Parts: sequence; C-alpha cells; structure tokens
Amino acid sequence: MYLINRIYNELFYAGLSKEEFRRVKEPIAEKNRKTLGSVSIIVGLYWLASRFIYGSPEYAFSRTVFISSALFCLIILLCSLFLVKHVPQTLLPLICALLLSFFGTSFALAFLQPDQRIATMICVAMSIPNLFLERPIVTITIEMIAVVFYAVMGKRILNPDVYSWGISTLIIFSSVGVIIGHITTKSRFERYVYIDSAEKLAEIQTKYSEELQKEVEAKTERIVALHDQFVIGMAAMVEGRDNSTGGHIRRTSMGVKILVEEMKKGMQLSDTFCEKIIKAAPMHDLGKIAIDDDILRKPGRFTPEEFGIMKTHTAEGARIVNNILNDTDDEEFRKIAVNIAHYHHERVDGSGYPDGLKGDEIPLEARIMAIADVYDALVSKRVYKESFSFEKANQIITEGMETQFDPCLQPYYEAARPKLEAYYHYTSEQEITNLGA
Ligand SMILES: [Fe+2]
Repeated sequence: MYLINRIYNELFYAGLSKEEFRRVKEPIAEKNRKTLGSVSIIVGLYWLASRFIYGSPEYAFSRTVFISSALFCLIILLCSLFLVKHVPQTLLPLICALLLSFFGTSFALAFLQPDQRIATMICVAMSIPNLFLERPIVTITIEMIAVVFYAVMGKRILNPDVYSWGISTLIIFSSVGVIIGHITTKSRFERYVYIDSAEKLAEIQTKYSEELQKEVEAKTERIVALHDQFVIGMAAMVEGRDNSTGGHIRRTSMGVKILVEEMKKGMQLSDTFCEKIIKAAPMHDLGKIAIDDDILRKPGRFTPEEFGIMKTHTAEGARIVNNILNDTDDEEFRKIAVNIAHYHHERVDGSGYPDGLKGDEIPLEARIMAIADVYDALVSKRVYKESFSFEKANQIITEGMETQFDPCLQPYYEAARPKLEAYYHYTSEQEITNLGA
C-alpha cells in the first residue's frame, strides 16, 4: 500500500504531498510556461534556419556543418539565458533542452539521411516539453501518444528502414526526456516547497516578533509610566510635608528643562542625557522623607543641630533613589537621579554639603539642579519669607556664580532667564486664580 501511494505521488505530484503540490504548482507552472514558450520559439527558429542553411546536399556531411550548428546553438543558449534571466529556477531544464536539441539536431544534420533527420528532429521536439511539465503522469501520457502517433503516421510516409529507426529513436528520446524531466521537476518542486516553507516560517516569525515587540514595548511603557507616577507621588508626599507652598517639584523640573534646552544650544549634550535630567529632577528632595516634621516644617531659622539633620536629606535621598531605581536597566538614569539627590546642595567653592565637593567634582546634573532649586526658592513664597522679585533673584544667582553655582553655566542661565521669568509669571498668576477659585 505504501509503495502504491509512493508511486501515485511520484506520478501525480512529483513526489510531494497533494497539499504541497497544490501550494507550489502555480508559480512553477507560470515560469515553465514562459520558459517553454521562449525555448520553443528559439528551437523552432533554429530548425527552420537549419533547413535552409544546411539542408543542401553538398553540406550535408561536412564537418563545417557540425561546427556551425554548434556555434549557432551556443548563440541560442546565450539568448535563452538572457530571455529567462528573471526565472533562474528554470535554467536546468532549459540547458537540458538546448543540449538535447544541439546533439539531436547536429547529429541529424551531419550524419543522417534526409528522412532520418526529420525523424530525429521530431523526436527531439517531442522530448522538449517533458522538461517543463509539472506532472510526470502527463509527460508519460504525451510521450505514449507521440509514439502511437508516430507509429501510425510514420508507417504511411516513411520507408520501412527509417520508420523502424525513428520509432526506436523516439522511444529512447522520450524515455530520456521523461527521466530528465522528472528529476528536474522534482528538484524544482522541492526547492519551491523549501522556499515556500522557509518564507512562510520567516513570515510567521517576523509577525510573531513584531507582535511580541509591540506587547513588550506597551508593557514597558506602562511599567515606566507607573514607576514615574510612583516617584512623582513620593516626591509630592514629601513636598506636602515641607514648608514650600506646593508646586516646587513641578516648577524646579520646568526650571531644569528650560536651562537644559538653552545648554543644548551651546554644549554637546545628548538628547537622552537631557531627558533623563528633566525626568530625575522631581526626585531631588526625596530624602526629606526621612526628616522629622518638627524640623521640616519649622518656620524660622534652623539651629546648627537642626541644620545638620536637614543636611542629611541629600545622602538619605541618594540612598532612597538608589533603592527605588535599583532594578532599573537604565543605569545612566539611576546615576543621574542619585547624583541630583546627593549633590544638589554642593557649591562650586567647596562650602556646600554633604561632601564639600568643588567645581567639576560636582556632577553636571547636580550643578544644573542647584540653579533651578535656588531660583525657585527665591522667586516663590515660603512660610518664612515672601517671594523675591525676578531682579532680586537674578542678582542673588549672578552673585552666586563662582561661589555657589558653576560660572560655566552662567551664559545658559542668562539665556534662559526670559523663559524662566515668563514661566514663573504665568505660574504665579495660575496660583492666584486657583486660590481665588
Ligand atoms: Fe534639597
């Protein structure tokens, strides 16, 4: 039963399964039709030309005939390659067809009697389509019809010697054609099945990867957003306990953003670095969560002891931020956020806290944060003080350059001033409106 199935598959589906055959039949059949068309035209023209050029008796047995026909075949082969260059899958059967044609025709022209030549050419012509048909059973059927046709018709028009020679030649050519045709068809089908399967697999894989990628991106975005909200929530909670009138986090973040945008115009700062500073800015005072309410909410000046405790919000903030971002895969962001929390009260002359760092020892992100933090403290109203005017705040910041703030940042601060003032002017108006409401 297995053997019968196997033979059936070989004959009807070139050794493939029925589904595979159906799937890949059409593209192969399409290419075969094109190639068979070009081969038929070329071979037909060649034979036609052969009849006129080499048909006369004086050239019939000449060596020149053989060489000329070989050269002519070569030209045809090159032309055919050009014609079917877009369908390389059909190259093998095409070459087989042309070789068959070359040997058959040259043999017929050079060594045979006129009747035998015609018989040979018919055999060759009959064999060529075998190389381009998809189903082996079809080629076998066609060959059998050809043999029967030759057997019936040849008996009437050919003399007995040529007839018997022709029928044996036809059987040999047909058998060879069927075998070569079957081998080439099988190899093409197998290649197509492989390509088809590989393409389908690649398509599925690409689609799956894209979907997976989108899902991962969406989930990551959600996690990042949740994380950001958590951090902002924590910062807001700290802010609620502080003496500031609220909005400090939002305003300092905007202050950092305005400064960084100006700095980008004159310094080599990457976009991601700038985005990360802005995103990390709300975390700068997280350490205040560890400070007692008595100190944090004290309206007047701190005693030296209280100030000492207050100073710990920087190192404590760095520890908290580090813990919060411990599992992040964005190491740069973690470092920036920790630096901002840790060093935003450092001064370039070394008199700041907690570590008394000087100049460039203070990370750039902390030097930027320091300006935005102090600027906000100056122009905002606190429990213990009224807000300063923009001019007064500017005077204090400018005087603080080289002692408290990095003088290298002064030009960017100057450039940012109009935007900072416009923003704070707008914000204070909003706050008045909100209070009125
Ligand atoms: Fe602070």
